[in-house]
Amino acid sequence: MPSIPVTSQRDEATRVIGLQTQFSADLIGLPIVDPQLTWQTISERPDAIQLAYEISSVGETGEVVTSPVVAGSDQIEIVASGHISKAREIRYLRVRIATQYGWSDFSPYTKFETGLASGKELIGDSIGDSSSHSEPSPILRKEFQAAKKIAKARLYATSEGIHALYLNAVPVTDEYFTPGWTAYDDRRTFVTYDVTSLVQVGGNCLSAELGDGWTRGKLGFMNMYDNYGKNLHLLAQLEITYMDGSKDVVVTDNSWKVSSGEIQFADIYDGTTIDYSKQQKGWQLAGFNDSSWAVPVLYPFAKETLVARTSTRVVKVEEFSSRILDTKNTSRTLLDFSQNISGWVRLTVDGKKGDVVTIRHAEVLEPGPNLHTAALRTAKATDHYTLDRDGRHVLEPKFTFHGFQFAEVTGPAKFVSAVGVAISSANQRRGFFTSSDARLNRLHQNVVWSIADNMVSVPTDCPQRDERLGWTGDAQAIAMTSNTLFKLDSFWRNWLVDLWVDQKRVGGVGAVVPDILSKQPSPGDGGWVITDRAGWADAATIVPMAAYESYGSAATLKQQLESIRAYVEGLSNRRKGEKFLPEEFQFGDWCDPDAPVDQPWLSKVKAQFVANAFFANTVQLAADAEALVGDAAHHKKFTELAATLREDIWEHFGQEAKETTAGCSIALEFGIVPDSEKVEVAKLLSDMVIADEGKITTGFLGTPLILHALSKNGHFEAAYTMLMRRKVRSWLYQVDQKATTIWERWDAIREDGSIHKGEMATASEDQPDASMISFNHYAYGAVIDWVYRNVAGIAPTTKSPGYRHITFAPRPGQGFTYASAEISTPFGEAAISWELVGESVLYAKVTVPFGSCAVIDFPLKSNSVLRVNGEIVLNGFEVGYGTYNVTVSAPEVATFRAVS
Ligand code: BGC
Repeated sequence: MPSIPVTSQRDEATRVIGLQTQFSADLIGLPIVDPQLTWQTISERPDAIQLAYEISSVGETGEVVTSPVVAGSDQIEIVASGHISKAREIRYLRVRIATQYGWSDFSPYTKFETGLASGKELIGDSIGDSSSHSEPSPILRKEFQAAKKIAKARLYATSEGIHALYLNAVPVTDEYFTPGWTAYDDRRTFVTYDVTSLVQVGGNCLSAELGDGWTRGKLGFMNMYDNYGKNLHLLAQLEITYMDGSKDVVVTDNSWKVSSGEIQFADIYDGTTIDYSKQQKGWQLAGFNDSSWAVPVLYPFAKETLVARTSTRVVKVEEFSSRILDTKNTSRTLLDFSQNISGWVRLTVDGKKGDVVTIRHAEVLEPGPNLHTAALRTAKATDHYTLDRDGRHVLEPKFTFHGFQFAEVTGPAKFVSAVGVAISSANQRRGFFTSSDARLNRLHQNVVWSIADNMVSVPTDCPQRDERLGWTGDAQAIAMTSNTLFKLDSFWRNWLVDLWVDQKRVGGVGAVVPDILSKQPSPGDGGWVITDRAGWADAATIVPMAAYESYGSAATLKQQLESIRAYVEGLSNRRKGEKFLPEEFQFGDWCDPDAPVDQPWLSKVKAQFVANAFFANTVQLAADAEALVGDAAHHKKFTELAATLREDIWEHFGQEAKETTAGCSIALEFGIVPDSEKVEVAKLLSDMVIADEGKITTGFLGTPLILHALSKNGHFEAAYTMLMRRKVRSWLYQVDQKATTIWERWDAIREDGSIHKGEMATASEDQPDASMISFNHYAYGAVIDWVYRNVAGIAPTTKSPGYRHITFAPRPGQGFTYASAEISTPFGEAAISWELVGESVLYAKVTVPFGSCAVIDFPLKSNSVLRVNGEIVLNGFEVGYGTYNVTVSAPEVATFRAVS
């Protein structure tokens, strides 16, 4: 290893770019913790390697802190200690690296701004009104003077319910649903807004609207209100720093005024009712006469539960224009936005004072055509507007979102135009894929949308019906794929904190996080405490490990270590000294297509095997986590326990596992099948898949595993037969049926065009035909992980995670002429694109980012010749930073049956 050059020696050809911290770049008001830096480097020198780094930062008043030079090649989650020490601190951090050629320039700065030291610093009272759920939203206002020129202004705010804040009638942010959903009982967050440009010298008005949100709105399939509280209130503090250094603070207290305005009703599931005739004109501006307004009610607020918000902001991500369908029917305007989204419609109408405009939403249409709303169950997903004057109006709902592709507008006002506004937690896209198969490309796109639509503050099962809960089973199923497609490290990290917080509160890992079910009474046993259930609670180990593999995030593993240990402990205790977990309710291979349609937990593969197999897998992941960030004693204990479990499970359940595709897949992927029997079990699995012409026979737990179980054991024919099948019960069947997101059931739309009845739902007076069928469930989208790894041929490796070591292993299937994938790894862009010319030569280009290395593992037959940049090499050839041309003569192409 060359020695670190002196700091005056410069490497002009190497640049550090893209410095980021452990938090989303658009967040301010962060916790007072050491920044963890990750950076990317590019260099004109192909052999340059990082030998050392130096971190430096500058504060608001110009004071510089420079850390000592650290030797090493690490560039992920590097702890910058000694830079951040207090509340309200702004520091700009940068880094430079030494290669064997000298020191690079410093990277561009990245900003790190801390928030309050604790919730107790919010010195005001939490203020609201005495309304109940479903009643008009409280609005609050306060006028204040800003005496001098403003240098900086920050607004710190949290609320019971969700809030929208304004300064002089201008929204303080472009985000929605603040402060977001966390495990509210024990963990609330305050949000920091930069309002420097909104405070004006002279008179100002700070105002707020509050919505029921997750606090007291309808939540969960039992339609309960007031889950976290009965009252809406706001706790806020505006801190103004003037140019001369003096300060002013405006806090929520009894000097504010409260009233209500045009928002008559606002519920996440049901929609909003806005009556513009009730709008108080000018209430958000200084000078408004609020003498008829009430003094706010002061509420206690558990300030000790407040921490800085670290979740990703929920923002508008895209807009869709609409197409009018069924122009013959003039009693309504039926709209198609061409994409199933989470969000709402921005509607423009010409109308008269008093006109009521109603807009309903649905994911699919029934013949008629009419909206299919049965699948929404009790979620009304309807917005109503009453116009307050003649003329043109632009209408947008508040404090609600709908899952929809279609909408129907009724009322006397004349329809002018409509835009579909898609919202999501602002997680950056990081994975891109394309291939010569247009259907597979559309499937990929559908998965991207299902993930975006279902990440609204928390990862949800679906965005349309009366659910939208953080189902842990769905989250673990999609974890790896979602990490490939989006940069989700901080999103998951935030949600995992809630998982652990609620795990402590409830005494086990919930089936949903935040664990709202544990708070809702069930008819039978007095509480829906469904903890530690197989394949659901395992999100506790699978999600952190997926973050480790995808982002190299050891910090996430470290953060979750206690939760992981407690989960393993909890499962072990459940056994009460027996070998296996007891028989109790399990979700099983949920929604197995052969299960009774109204009992989706009765999968073909037995729940008892699934439960113990997931237990063994979790213990193994816990052992791995201990080896990485834990201690040797736990590592040893967990390693031994996992091995014993695997052996016992195979001995006891092996025979029955072999009878189902899910059983074989789980047993193979979790290493339960002994090495000596792997070939036999994989062959059994492959035979079943081929005999079924690739028809999907697995549910939420088996489906993410099955293609891996096949291909890792050499059965590409079966894997491709299943992936590329177009008959019903397949991914591409959905695409042929014009799906734009991933369905909850394979036959959500049947071959005869009818819509699945979703028999699971309980009918109500409101909705006698209610059904449980969602067209936007991401769990089955987990197949995309396989597509990146095998069709395009790019994957991280667990041993050197975060794409520090990349595997390039495309396995083209017959009929594909090209495929490519690009992933924004922590090290920079990693990419592969390949082209098959007449099946005789495969040309590929692979790109390895600075700091990474990769192994070339291409599809060879016995007569194939593999070349990297013209040189003949063998599979297993390692390459470092750079771009390489790879060719294979006579490549192996996986044949398969095209079933359509
Ligand atoms: C959700 C699923 C979830 C399941 C478990 C359903 O209602 O939509 O995705 O995992 O319940 O019971």
